[in-house]
Amino acid sequence: MVNTAIALPRVFVTRRLPEPALSRLQQAPIVLDLWPEAGPPPYEELQRRVAGCQGLLCLLTDRIDEALLAAAGSELRVISQMAVGVDNIDLAACTRRGIPVGHTPGVLTEATADLAVALLLATARRLVEAANDVKAGRWHTWDPMGWVGPDVHGSTVGIVGLGRIGAAVARRLQGFAVRLLYHNPRPSPWAAEVGATWVPWETLLAESDFITLHCPYSPATHHLINAAALAQMKPTAILINTARGGVVDQEALEQALRTGRIAAAGLDVTTPEPLPADHPLLSLPNVVVLPHIGSASLSARRRMAEMAVANLLAGLAGERLPHCANPAVYG
Ligand code: GLV
Repeated sequence: MVNTAIALPRVFVTRRLPEPALSRLQQAPIVLDLWPEAGPPPYEELQRRVAGCQGLLCLLTDRIDEALLAAAGSELRVISQMAVGVDNIDLAACTRRGIPVGHTPGVLTEATADLAVALLLATARRLVEAANDVKAGRWHTWDPMGWVGPDVHGSTVGIVGLGRIGAAVARRLQGFAVRLLYHNPRPSPWAAEVGATWVPWETLLAESDFITLHCPYSPATHHLINAAALAQMKPTAILINTARGGVVDQEALEQALRTGRIAAAGLDVTTPEPLPADHPLLSLPNVVVLPHIGSASLSARRRMAEMAVANLLAGLAGERLPHCANPAVYG
């Protein structure tokens, strides 16, 4: 008898997704291999699991490089990442192999902007330090100079990367009557709407009370905030990073915070992630570090997962991905 069954595409998914995306995946006509553990699969395990797969749904914690693609083999038709940033993926190598890479722009913009502003306020007004002092019994009295920090209201905020998320941050900050500066390689289409003025890099560094990073991470933005940049900032300046850890030279930042070269930093992203609990940065009182939770609102995470599944299924069906990070793959 001739076997007429059509082989279903094999897909490796590197973490349990939130519902309803997970059910959609489980009901899809695919052979699903779902990584069951709470942490990411180790790289060698990822290589083993992806071998012979037609689809891969991954997270920003998975390194997708040339060797991984080679291990996957020529069957791999689509990579779909549940994140907007794709700096963990060698996009050029995927494009060379004709593999479209999906990502999830738009749906996490507002959640990430909320977090950036929360982190900015928390760092300026020393919320974490103050709350820890209350818990530790160090709240002795109302103190005229206790836990004082700079005003956000009326300050100058420099936005590095006025894209979707940077503009959403700017919109929120309008309510604080701030002066908004930004620096992008090209003028931003959002600048007029949000009332942000393009300034040269040196001006942004020198004039901002707060600098908030919203640029993608790439070789061009690697260590954009380095010792030279920190040296040009005000000693009262506060740096906020909700983009990627690699945009900041963390050793230079630590030095600048330790010596009072700048006042404070609020970091939702670090190098490495997770940052070890005994990392020297965490011993500084003027640093707030969060565990990369920019997009961690229920609705953003649900929508990211749904978008990632939609990209995956489109790729398996040979359709153009609704949200493709390497459109050059389509020629
Ligand atoms: C989160 O950092 C993302 O890129 O989606």
